[in-house]
Amino acid sequence: MISTIAELRSFLAKARSEGKQIGLVPTMGALHKGHLSLVEACREECDLSVVSIFVNPTQFAPGEDFEKYPRTLDSDREKLATVEADVIFAPSTEEVYPPGSSTTVHVAGLTERWEGATRPTHFDGVTTVVMKLFQMVQPDRAYFGQKDFQQAQILLKMVRDLNLPLQMRICPIVREADGLAMSSRNAYLSTEERRASLVLYKSLQLAERFLAEGILDADRIRLAMEAEFSSEPLAKLDYVALLEAETLNEVDEIQSPVIALVAAWVGKTRLIDNLWLRPAPTTS
Ligand code: PAF
Repeated sequence: MISTIAELRSFLAKARSEGKQIGLVPTMGALHKGHLSLVEACREECDLSVVSIFVNPTQFAPGEDFEKYPRTLDSDREKLATVEADVIFAPSTEEVYPPGSSTTVHVAGLTERWEGATRPTHFDGVTTVVMKLFQMVQPDRAYFGQKDFQQAQILLKMVRDLNLPLQMRICPIVREADGLAMSSRNAYLSTEERRASLVLYKSLQLAERFLAEGILDADRIRLAMEAEFSSEPLAKLDYVALLEAETLNEVDEIQSPVIALVAAWVGKTRLIDNLWLRPAPTTS
């Protein structure tokens, strides 16, 4: 395991000089199968996989779960050994944010709505730390999960806007057997909340069924998804949205693939999920 930027850079400089392609999987630890699937994708495409583990303080607002966010370095290391990750980079906060740091990366537009409306400082923290990790590792490819769909779109835009020389890979959501999207925050859920949390995926599946029946009106689908939440008293809906993926703008009618996003609190835990909705091809 490496904890300083200097050591990381000299290790990677050698690998690069040997012509090795470097892949980066940024994480905040508390690893689950979703993270491990990113490492597997990275290992398939790259010669050297770097997994960063850093609970980034700047993406948590005061009152959010920064202090209680699970820190499970020993079991993370064991899990990463099972997928043969090459390098674990686990820097301290001082290493990532030198004292007096005052520079942030801000992606305008895409950061303002949905998660950004509820967590207004969150995405600046994400883009800033990911940009820093890109500078530290200088990867050829970087791997992120579709579970954080808005985050992925914002990072794709950052890479385009800043002409960063790397390829972005967004990998599919990994779900529990009953459909709950894997998330480090699932560990906060009580047994009852764990059951209630299924309402997120159920609402997305409902939208998929509407589409299969040929219902393309976005308002109608949204209302049905919202109604699904009214039947689950332990969940408090933040939003459901049917969006054009690149712009994150709402659609009126589903004519081409759209992304359905849901966000809700189950007890004190905020959960998000999403699903691509593809209209059935028309037969003529
Ligand atoms: O998705 C996450 O776990 C985090 O937002 C990330 C990308 C590792 C940045 O801290």
